[in-house]
Amino acid sequence: MDQSRTPLFDAIKDYIDLSPAYFRIPGHRLERGISSRWKDVVGEEIFKFDLTETPLVDDLHNPEGAIKEAQLLAQEVFSAEHSYFLVNGTTCGNEAMVISTAFEGQKIAIPRNAHKSVLMGLIISGAEPIYLSPVLSKELGVQGGILPEDVEAMFRTNPDCKGVMVVSPTYYGICSDLRGIAEVCHRYNAVLMVDEAHGAHMYFSDQLPEGALAQGADMCAQSIHKVTGSLTQSSMLHVKSKLVDIDRLEATLHIVQSTSPSYLLMTSLDLARYELAVNGKEMINNAVELSNYGREEINKIEGMICLGKIGGILVECGAGGCAVGVGLNVRGDAAEYVDADRAPRRPMSIAQAAGAAPERDALLAFVCVEIVGAARAVASGRGAAVLDAWRAAQDLRGRRVCLRIKDRMRAGRVREVDPERGIRLDEHAEWFMPHAVLRVEEGCEE
Ligand SMILES: Cc1ncc(COP(=O)(O)O)c(C=O)c1O
Repeated sequence: MDQSRTPLFDAIKDYIDLSPAYFRIPGHRLERGISSRWKDVVGEEIFKFDLTETPLVDDLHNPEGAIKEAQLLAQEVFSAEHSYFLVNGTTCGNEAMVISTAFEGQKIAIPRNAHKSVLMGLIISGAEPIYLSPVLSKELGVQGGILPEDVEAMFRTNPDCKGVMVVSPTYYGICSDLRGIAEVCHRYNAVLMVDEAHGAHMYFSDQLPEGALAQGADMCAQSIHKVTGSLTQSSMLHVKSKLVDIDRLEATLHIVQSTSPSYLLMTSLDLARYELAVNGKEMINNAVELSNYGREEINKIEGMICLGKIGGILVECGAGGCAVGVGLNVRGDAAEYVDADRAPRRPMSIAQAAGAAPERDALLAFVCVEIVGAARAVASGRGAAVLDAWRAAQDLRGRRVCLRIKDRMRAGRVREVDPERGIRLDEHAEWFMPHAVLRVEEGCEE
């Protein structure tokens, strides 16, 4: 399709150009009834876009023209099979996903960190919730992701569960291993719904984890207004699935959406989609670069830590090769894991990475070591991935390093590295448990 088109925006412009005698709602009639105090500040043109259904501008609840085309363009950009404009935010997208997936008395798995709209969906549908607990990072006080193995365990006791809802990314930017969760859900013929309120941008940069649909989710709702440039309250719902009952979903959307959908909001979705299609990669990659810079600078401030690639949940190993990188106190968290020495090189959860290890639950934490030129990792705990990391950590022996432990720094030559006890420096009698170590740098002074 021609992504440079903006069908709804153009239809409204054409309609306004006709200077219609307007006897419809809204009662301000294009702009005449709007307070002049407001118009003096913002001008009057924008109010002409605040319309209701007319033959030219289509109908959200029965799209056949401009809105239908605008939704099809969005569908193509997000590689979905069906896309819907939402004028009641991701709030109504979550409600629709829940209501259309499980009827009264049927089971649906939702995370403890679900948005209240998911609870509203439960109230309306009467479905029975089974709660999934996201991993909690006690050190950072934030909730992490949902683990595929927790979803698997849930299905073992509830094989009749109709669907699983996951928030990814969370408000804090933490992503779950959706590919792993989708695989589990589909084995049980259940629908994976993703609250992607904060993740519409993830489809436009290969520096970020893939978007939910690309990882196999059946449905996702995105607040385009939160991260990708539309007006507040405008969102999208996408479907890519053989399991979703489209008639039921569309019937549900009629229930949860206003019967007076705002054309301002829908136009903003049409134009946000256009910008994403045409300039999205450049804009989002630029934003990723800026955020990396911001994160690095914040992490240099004593006592502050910013979740991200360094010293946080997301860690990548440099081209120099390393064992593992990760966040703090994660204990099986859905942090991303990239191991330059292992194939495949795609990000995976720690639990997945360490999956082969029977003592996986004993995982404490990994500590990312950023050493200029070659990334190295130190890890504590047990498990295959951890042991790999410890092997790499042996290289630190005899080297001068600086450990950042909460708000203190400890500098010294590494005397011992012990999976049970941690790291010990020449100048210090105490052992530093790696889960307490925020960062390790080479060659710095205390
Ligand atoms: C995780 C999550 N889901 C859903 C929503 C609701 O989104 P919206 O404001 O687009 O209705 C929010 C809003 O903050 C959110 O943080």
